[in-house]
Amino acid sequence: MVRYRRRLRRLARLLSHPTRIPRRLRARRRGSERAQLLARLPKNGVVAEVGTWRGDFAAVILNSSRPARLYLIDPWEHRSEEKYQQASYGGRREGQQEMDAIHDGVLERFSSEIESGRVVIRRARSLEAAGSLSPESLDWVYIDADHSYEGVRDDLESYFPLVKPGGFLAGDDYGHVGSWFGEGVTRAVDEFSGRCAGLTIIGTQFLLRKH
Ligand SMILES: C[S@@+](CC[C@H](N)C(=O)[O-])C[C@H]1O[C@@H](n2cnc3c(N)ncnc32)[C@H](O)[C@@H]1O
Repeated sequence: MVRYRRRLRRLARLLSHPTRIPRRLRARRRGSERAQLLARLPKNGVVAEVGTWRGDFAAVILNSSRPARLYLIDPWEHRSEEKYQQASYGGRREGQQEMDAIHDGVLERFSSEIESGRVVIRRARSLEAAGSLSPESLDWVYIDADHSYEGVRDDLESYFPLVKPGGFLAGDDYGHVGSWFGEGVTRAVDEFSGRCAGLTIIGTQFLLRKH
């Protein structure tokens, strides 16, 4: 009985803290949440993913949302500042050479879509890339770049005018705890939600609808 209770307590602790859930289980759960998110977003649209990394979610977007155009926005830049020491593109990575190799891998992965013009790569920080896109030209944007409060706040602010009325701003890691960015995503999204028609949360995925 005591052993049973101890096991139950351990399980409860595990389930209440996302970072303690084994990586494989977390990835599966995120995959299912993202599938539910994509099911709510328009198909055949003009879409941007801000923060692409190796292109894993971009490949899912291409397959399931069939966008007419998909902008992939990422500087693939190693950040050495203190703030980014724990980020996947910061201190704990090998450096700029590794980022360049990841960028080259994305070019290769989507080479046929890039050739046809369906995928457009913008190797730039999000705010700089936003300046190159036309107002109200996107059906939706997926924000998964700099997860700090200021990073997400600025991305929401600068991509909002680029989304068509009735379009969507979605993104990753809402409610996530225990990472280098603290509650940055959650706070920025909660604050911004007042400017939108609605906020839907699917696990760690957020979905804001523009009026
Ligand atoms: C979590 S990864 C993205 C993962 C990707 N969305 C996926 O699910 O397959 C975060 C990415 O954001 C990029 N990033 C960081 N700061 C950025 C910024 N200011 N603008 C655009 N991308 C940024 C990083 O280079 C990294 O590739």
